[in-house]
Parts: sequence; C-alpha cells; structure tokens
Amino acid sequence: MATYAIWNNKGGVGKSYLTFQLACEYARTHPHEPVLVVDLCPQANSSGMLLGGIEAGERILDDLSSQTSSKTIAGYIEDRIRSPYVNPHTGSSYLTKVKDYNHDVPDNLYLITGDEQLEIQASRVLAATAPGPTDAWRIVHTWINDLIEDIQQVWNKTDTTVFVDCNPSFTIYTELAMSAADRLVIPFSADGSSRRAVRAVLALVYGVTRQAGAQQSQFFLNSQQYRLPIPQIYCYVGNRMTQYLSSAKAFKAVVTEIGNEIWAVWQNSPNVFHIHPPGAQTPSRRRDFVNMFQYEVPDANTASVVSSSLGIPIVALTAGQKTVAGRTVMVNQSQLERQQPNIQELVRNIE
Ligand SMILES: Nc1ncnc2c1ncn2[C@@H]1O[C@H](COP(=O)(O)OP(=O)(O)OP(=O)(O)O)[C@@H](O)[C@H]1O
Ligand SMILES: [Mg+2]
Repeated sequence: MATYAIWNNKGGVGKSYLTFQLACEYARTHPHEPVLVVDLCPQANSSGMLLGGIEAGERILDDLSSQTSSKTIAGYIEDRIRSPYVNPHTGSSYLTKVKDYNHDVPDNLYLITGDEQLEIQASRVLAATAPGPTDAWRIVHTWINDLIEDIQQVWNKTDTTVFVDCNPSFTIYTELAMSAADRLVIPFSADGSSRRAVRAVLALVYGVTRQAGAQQSQFFLNSQQYRLPIPQIYCYVGNRMTQYLSSAKAFKAVVTEIGNEIWAVWQNSPNVFHIHPPGAQTPSRRRDFVNMFQYEVPDANTASVVSSSLGIPIVALTAGQKTVAGRTVMVNQSQLERQQPNIQELVRNIE
C-alpha cells in the first residue's frame, strides 16, 4: 500500500480520468480497505467524476467549497497557511465519503476534493516555504503527508492506498503532491509534445539534465538537501493512444521514443524506479523493463464519455442506451471491452 501520484507535466493526457478509474477499481477490488483520493488540482476534474460526473459533480463541488470552511483541499490548505509549521491535525475534517453523493462507486472510497481556490492560495503556500524556520521548505512540503496521516489516524490504519490527482503545471501544490507520493504513475498521450513532457517530468522530479553541468530543478535539489523522499516511478501509461494515431506503426514509434527516455533513466538510476509486484526480479533486458513499467489504456470512445459524465466507473458501466446531458447515447460492449481489461490489469499490478 502506498501513495500514488498521477502526474505528467502536460495537460489533457488523462491524469484525472485515470485517477477516477484506478481509484474506483482499486476500491472495488479491495472492499475491506478504505481508499483515498486527494485531488490536488484546482480544476477538480477527478473530484467531479467521483462525485457523480461532470454536471452533478460540479454542483456538489460548488456546495462543498461554499461552506464556511470549504470541505475541500482548500479548507485544509487554509488551515496550514494559518499554521504552516505546527501541524493543526485538522485533515480528517475535510474528508468526503464518495458514495454519499454517487451510488455507482464503491462504499470504501473517500475523497479530499479539489478546489479552484488552490490557485489563489498558491502564492501564500509558496511564501510559507521561506523564510520561516530553517527547514520551512521541508515542513511545507510535508503538509499533504500530514493530511494523509490525519485521515489514517481516524481510520485507525497506518497503511492505506492513496491516489493523488495533480495539475499539469509544476506549481507549489504539484510539488506538495510529489513530496507526499511514494510512487509516480506517468500517463502520456501520442501527440507530438508527449516526449518533451516526459522529459520535463524526469528533469523536474528526478533532476535528470540533458547536458552535463546543466542546472537541476530546485525541487530536486531541495528534496535532497532536506532529505525528503521523491516518488519512485511506478509505471508510464500510454493513454488513449488510438485517438491520435491511426496506424500501429506511428503508435509504436511514440511509445518507443518515450520508452527510450525512461529506459535511459533506468540505466543510470534504477533506484528511482519501484520494482513490482513484490518479489519480481529486477529487469535486466529492455523487454522485461517494458513488461514491468509500461502500460496501455486505450480510448473507449462513447463509453469513456458516459463513464466520466455520469461518474460510473468504466468497469461498472454496462452496454446500452444512456442519457448524457439530455441526449441519448449508445454504449457498445466492444467499447467497454477495449478499456475494462486494461484498467483491471493496471489495478491488479498496484500493490
Ligand atoms: N482512456 C481514455 N479513453 C477515452 N477518453 C479519455 C481517456 N482518458 C482520458 N479521456 C478523456 O480525455 C479528456 C482529458 O482527460 P483528463 O481530464 O483526465 O486529462 P488530464 O491530464 O487530467 O487534464 P488536465 O491536465 O487538464 O488536468 C477528458 O475528456 C477525458 O474524459
Ligand atoms: Mg486533470
């Protein structure tokens, strides 16, 4: 059990969609464990899906964030801005049980909802990282760890599985997500800039530079200075590749390019990867490496739209006519079969 951040430095690659699907499927297959989603994105897209889909979820999000002390991530961050260096232990009061709002999700799924206020708070969070005490940077970067611990305490558990949805930009709240995460899931899509985005992830989080002597990211340097762990790469997920590329050859070329970037990091720093499942041999050949770390989640077309619009996890969605935003649409069994097994396989590989 661990905290998984779903992040890529690029927008629209499926971070929120995968957070929604993975958390729901993980909760379904682990019914005796509470499962937490922390939505650290001001757009709050995964919260919207979890809370019943784009429309219904939006209304609930508005309700939760309009309470006197927003029952969202922003409520907690406000507490921390007020008390940056002394843990107020208020985290669990911001928890939402997802099933209270969406009957299509498992009972054991909980959420700290995202909130657009995060964007407004960002400058004050950053201001708290310096000056303050000498280790102000470190303390602020453990706020989300504190939040998770507060929740574990009320659950009376020390070990839980947490999924953290992130904003694409490497802002202060994305840094907080990276510091809280044990493991990183990197979704990517097949459009031209995907390779650059994956390179950016490797540079920003792992200090991988393209030329010897080039400046490393401040996040990486500070994490080292303050001995704050950074997440290990758990997998990279080609998401929705078929949406952009019709030919299998073009698809393969993009995956190979991105695989090359990640393979190069593996060769220099295998310690930044998380070998899984438990007991698995450390890969020695490229093929074994790919088998361990590379996944694919195809586009499920209308089924995906229905799943995210109505907040019904893809694995729980059935074929047939559905109503989305007043329109009748058809979900085909073949669409479901294109994506359900891949989400299930990815979740089976999450410890
Ligand atoms: N595998 C998929 N099949 C079909 N549609 C998908 C899939 N993954 C994501 N989508 C859709 O693609 C769009 C972008 O996905 P999503 O919002 O999850 O991306 P993101 O990386 O979270 O974006 P942002 O950077 O804005 O937070 C959404 O409409 C989502 O429903
Ligand atoms: Mg998103």
